[in-house]
Amino acid sequence: MAQRGIFITFEGVEGAGKTTQAERLADALGPNVVRTREPGGTPISERIRDLFFASEGITPMTELLLIAAARAQHVDELIHPALKANKIVICDRFIDASVAYQGYRGGIDLELIQQLNHTATSGLMPDLTFVLDLPPEIGIQRQQDSATDRNRLDNEPLESHRKVREGYLFAARSDPHRVKVIDATQSPDAVHADLLAEYQRFILSR
Ligand code: TMP
Repeated sequence: MAQRGIFITFEGVEGAGKTTQAERLADALGPNVVRTREPGGTPISERIRDLFFASEGITPMTELLLIAAARAQHVDELIHPALKANKIVICDRFIDASVAYQGYRGGIDLELIQQLNHTATSGLMPDLTFVLDLPPEIGIQRQQDSATDRNRLDNEPLESHRKVREGYLFAARSDPHRVKVIDATQSPDAVHADLLAEYQRFILSR
């Protein structure tokens, strides 16, 4: 098989600390890392992100299709070339977010989501995915305490956040080799240590 880089994704409910942890892991892994996010990561995909957040009344299907469009551009323009150049790509959210948000939260058929994910990514899968797991009420409280900017989805009812969590745990059960659930109720240092340990295990098993 052709040599390629490593593709790592971070997932979790709002306020789980994934952006901070992705940053810490990137720092720990050194200069060969490319950090990116979804929806977004390229100029076109960032414009779709703005539309995604700005659109009150948007339906789950429209969300899914916008995200898939942003993803297709992101994979072609940034992720795939970086992996070909042997980089470690760390992406804040990816395909499992569509299962959790548009599937579990939005009620869209999971098979359709998987097909669309497959089309948008040309079949590219993360090598390793971290789900930073915690009860959503703790995540929301953390966001309120830290005065983080809140988006349209952050402000949805608790029930919707619970469904997202359920969706992520389903993704982890469906693909336990790739998706690792990390207890995000721990201190940031303990979460970072768990992530590094999982990463080492992954490297040794490659
Ligand atoms: P974040 O940058 O705070 O993680 O926000 C991204 C938002 O986009 C988050 O609320 C989840 C949402 N999202 C989806 O609904 N589906 C997806 O496939 C992705 C990647 C993100």
